[in-house]
Amino acid sequence: MPDFSDTLVDRLVEAGHVAVLTGAGISAESGIPTFRDPGGLWEEFDPQELANVEAFLDNPELVQGWYRHRREVVEDAAPNAGHHALADLEAHVPSMAVVTQNVDDLHNRAETSTVIELHGNITDNYCMDCERAVGAAAVDAAIQDGEPARCPDCGGLVRPDVVWFGEMLPPDAMEQADATTEQADVFLSVGTSAVVYPAARLPVAAREQGAYVAEVNPDTTGVTDDIHETIRGPAGDVLPALVDAVAARQRP
Ligand code: APR
Repeated sequence: MPDFSDTLVDRLVEAGHVAVLTGAGISAESGIPTFRDPGGLWEEFDPQELANVEAFLDNPELVQGWYRHRREVVEDAAPNAGHHALADLEAHVPSMAVVTQNVDDLHNRAETSTVIELHGNITDNYCMDCERAVGAAAVDAAIQDGEPARCPDCGGLVRPDVVWFGEMLPPDAMEQADATTEQADVFLSVGTSAVVYPAARLPVAAREQGAYVAEVNPDTTGVTDDIHETIRGPAGDVLPALVDAVAARQRP
């Protein structure tokens, strides 16, 4: 039985609004590698070569190919018990929002109603010049032909709709993330190392405005010392048990 406090369950039962920040760790149990764990993506691949606009302009085929590979991994994956538990939690609290750093679309596929995607979504692509959306099939067809994928309208290079290092986050997403953090009575930080900003400042911002802040992670993170509670364990075990405890407390 995961080890979380009665205080956390009480605060969830009493909460008017719950905000949840998620990172790659919540999708690890769906078979999607994290970034900084042993065997993670950044151990095998160099983000300088693959996850910034200069690298893309230098070698669009390489970057488009890598993101196609990652998209295929995501398409073959399925939401796990952790994603589903968060979708279930929505039914037990008056309002809730999930702020995710993940580009894997799994919260949407778990039918979570309010998902704020801070770093974009890997299933989407767009033209760097005219910004029109371009379907993944067109990107795959071009890669198949050994050509960089280009916009059917203006010929501009097509890139995945994700935030690369050195790029600004989508302003509306960051605004929504700040607003939901400001309103939160309880803030959960799940499966993130909390070292990448601005997302990593949200748990502390929540605590500063009076929320009860807990993290779910098998390991220590960049905010472990700054929050109220740490639950050591995989999200796929901890979150279903936490939602069951809230449901049990709410039953007459
Ligand atoms: N359940 C919960 N947490 C887990 C699990 C699990 N099953 N497995 C691993 N973790 C934890 C790890 O201990 C680690 O703290 O998930 C965290 C993953 O951290 P990172 O790999 O750094 O991923 P994340 O925090 O999402 O990275 C933030 O950095 O590379 C960029 O844009 C990328 O969105 C990403 C951002």
